[in-house]
Amino acid sequence: LDNGLGRTPPMGWNTWNHFQCQVNEQLLKDSADAMIELGFYKAGYKYLNLDDCWEGHRDENGYITTDPITFPGGIKALADYAHEKGLLFGIYSDAGRLTCARRIGSLGYEDKDAQRYAEWGVDFLKYDNCHNDGSPEIQRYVKMRDALNRTGRPIFYSICEWGKSKPFLWGRAVGNRYWRTTLDIRATWASIISIIQKQQMITKYAGPGGWNDPDMLQIGNGQLTLEEQRSHFSLWAALKSPLLLGFDIRNPPVEAKAIALNEEIIAINQDPLGLSVSIVQRTRFFDIWTGPLSDGYVAVLFNRGEIPVVITLYFASHCNLEGEIAVRDLWEHADKGNFTTRFVLLSNFLFVFFFF
Ligand code: DGJ
Repeated sequence: LDNGLGRTPPMGWNTWNHFQCQVNEQLLKDSADAMIELGFYKAGYKYLNLDDCWEGHRDENGYITTDPITFPGGIKALADYAHEKGLLFGIYSDAGRLTCARRIGSLGYEDKDAQRYAEWGVDFLKYDNCHNDGSPEIQRYVKMRDALNRTGRPIFYSICEWGKSKPFLWGRAVGNRYWRTTLDIRATWASIISIIQKQQMITKYAGPGGWNDPDMLQIGNGQLTLEEQRSHFSLWAALKSPLLLGFDIRNPPVEAKAIALNEEIIAINQDPLGLSVSIVQRTRFFDIWTGPLSDGYVAVLFNRGEIPVVITLYFASHCNLEGEIAVRDLWEHADKGNFTTRFVLLSNFLFVFFFF
């Protein structure tokens, strides 16, 4: 599926993390408006993605319909609404008989469903893995890939099989887009930390056209502190994860909105080189993740705990850099000065981010 999409990680908003099945037409329209009016679109968030629970039934010809109560106007009208504003429209289905929320899935109906999505003007498909028939993921995900290809419409393909069959090994060929690495994220620090840990071995698989997906963002949801939210967003950006916001975008919490709109962090995520940071040190209290950018280097000094900690970044061993290094803090938006050999940070926060 090489349709030229996904040279940098996709950015947008998705209904699931905040609304689960409480979705309807008006919510999607209002969210589209908010993406434009509150500056998200301008910052790079282009996809308006409807997750599970829009599906109706299959008609007598085997075509999927839309839930008549919550989406009476149908998906095409919504996609048109999004397109008029310059947004892209994403939808959801499942490589099984039913979706995770027990709506109708696509298994056995791949071509008919893909055809409908294309007619509706859909730009993105997230393809889930519930209620499947036990056949190998790769088979079922290739089928939908081929069906999408046959429509002739470029549709971004998001593989959501939760890391079950090592999708980082085949996702680039099959989805050629991005693949979920882990089970569902929750809006807790424990969930975020555990997902980050599972990225350690697979960072090398991310690159233009195919990204690891540690799941959608939870900033602005649950009880995450400011530092936790910044840490979450920073690592996702530097891992070159898709940045799909998951809060109520019509009315975003002030802190989460500011985090999501941090242009310097977004620029790390959207860097054309498209390489993920990798972990270069792990201690009981902190991690250091670093990686090259097209015009510099990024280091994530990541305090995992609850207490301040001193973190020393050694340019040679952690970053492969020599000489005098200009350091910038992307959360403070401040140049920290020039340093040789190392940079020492007292991290009160859970997280600080630097760029050379
Ligand atoms: C499981 C996925 O992992 C979630 O992201 C979400 O799409 C739900 N299914 C929807 O039912």
